[in-house]
Amino acid sequence: MTPEQVQLVRLSFVKVMDIKDAAGKLFYDRLFAIAPELRSMFKGDMDAQARKLMDTLAVAIGSLRNAAALTDLLEQMAHRHVKYGVKDEHYATVGEALLWTLDKGLGPDFTPEVKAAWTALYGAVAKTMIDASSKGLAVA
Ligand code: HEM
Repeated sequence: MTPEQVQLVRLSFVKVMDIKDAAGKLFYDRLFAIAPELRSMFKGDMDAQARKLMDTLAVAIGSLRNAAALTDLLEQMAHRHVKYGVKDEHYATVGEALLWTLDKGLGPDFTPEVKAAWTALYGAVAKTMIDASSKGLAVA
C-alpha cells in the first residue's frame, strides 16, 4: 500500500467506526445473503462477532507501520480460522461483503481512491492469512 492509501483507509475507517454496530450488521447480513453456506460456521453472538471483525481491522490499520507485529497477529488468527473450517476461497467472499458494506456505510465518501485503498488493505491481510493457513503451525 502507498502512504496515501494508508491515510485514506485511516480517515474512512474513522467514519465507519461512527456506525460500527450498524456496519457490522450490514456486513454479516450481506455475507450470508451472498454465501448462506457460511452461516453454520458461526456459533457465537453475531453482534459480538461483527464488533470483533471491525476491531481487528482497526488493529490492522493501527499496525500498518509495524508490519512484523501485524503479520504475527494475522498468522495466528489464520490458524484459528482453519479450525473454524474457513477455506482459502472464503476470503474473496468476505472481501466482497466488506467492500459492499463500506460502499453502503460511507456513501459518497467511498470514492474510487478510498475503494482502491481498502481493496489493497484487505488483499494484503487476506493474502497473509491464506499463506499462513497452508503452512500449518503448532501455534493455535
Ligand atoms: C481479513 C479477514 C478476516 C478477519 C480480520 C477476521 C477476524 C476474525 C476475528 C477477530 C475473529 C474472532 C476469533 C479469532 O480471533 O479467532 C473471527 C472469528 C471467525 N471468523 Fe473471521 N476474519 C476474517 C476472515 C474470515 C473468513 C474469510 C471467514 C469465512 C467465512 C471467517 C469466519 C470466521 C468464523 C467462522 C469465526 C468463528 C466464529 C464463532 O466462533 O462463532 N473469517 N474472525
